[in-house]
Amino acid sequence: MVATIIDGKAFAAEIREDVARHVARLSEEHGIVPGLAVVLVGEDPASQVYVRSKGKQTVEAGMASFEHKLPPETDEATLLGLIEQLNNDPKVHGILVQLPLPGHLDEDLVINSVDPAKDVDGFHISNVGLLGTGQKSMVPCTPLGCLMMLRKHHGSLSGLDAVVIGRSNIVGKPMAQLLLGDSCTVTIAHSRTKDLPEVVRRADIVVAAVGRPEMVPGDWIKPGATVIDVGINRIEGEAGKTRLVGDVDYESCAAVAGAITPVPGGVGPMTIACLLANTVTACCRAHG
Ligand code: GUN
Repeated sequence: MVATIIDGKAFAAEIREDVARHVARLSEEHGIVPGLAVVLVGEDPASQVYVRSKGKQTVEAGMASFEHKLPPETDEATLLGLIEQLNNDPKVHGILVQLPLPGHLDEDLVINSVDPAKDVDGFHISNVGLLGTGQKSMVPCTPLGCLMMLRKHHGSLSGLDAVVIGRSNIVGKPMAQLLLGDSCTVTIAHSRTKDLPEVVRRADIVVAAVGRPEMVPGDWIKPGATVIDVGINRIEGEAGKTRLVGDVDYESCAAVAGAITPVPGGVGPMTIACLLANTVTACCRAHG
């Protein structure tokens, strides 16, 4: 079997066009410009790349982008003060604090200081609870992007066996909640799972979100299954060059799967497209 490649880059471009149309209408008909504030503490190179990309795509969609770059030694009171200011700023509809934060800052405290209505990451404990109980919430961008690709490829996901590898708060747990919401039978596998290959072999849908390069080989995949690869890992390639790989071994998995997302060009672009969509959603809810 040769797997269908799920083109996240093209799908993300469609979503961004929808967002831009919606933003233009809000601006022309109501004089409202959705605004996204991104807060980066420190100088982590990967985070700097993500933040730059988020800012650029926000502006390209016609929205206002507010970037706040704080030095690595920023204390908690200063960061919480900035978040308070953004919570109270009517021009800001979405707030994203880039993770990971430097070790001296309490990540849970910071996340939970963002107004849940502006929490476009969906990480605030209220949004986590709303998602877990199937109520209207802000949904974390990466799992939302994965769900949209799965729905586009499959139509209904009802009754399918889904295995999520990884139990992070950012991806694994919300991904499992979303799949459950679409009536999948969901297993969350992790580093302590007994006989992981057997568990993965049962799945019609595999979502790999562990952050370990090429960890899932093709012989773990049920023929015809759909594989969503959330991993973005930089590894040494040929001639000392680095290259990006996912959490699944692409070649061997693509030979068995029915459909697969590439890295790059799969989940990554969908995450930012969903962030823009969440910002428009937050703006619309704020304005009734
Ligand atoms: N770091 C890695 N992924 C994410 C994300 O989705 N949101 C935020 N805020 N930080 C991240």
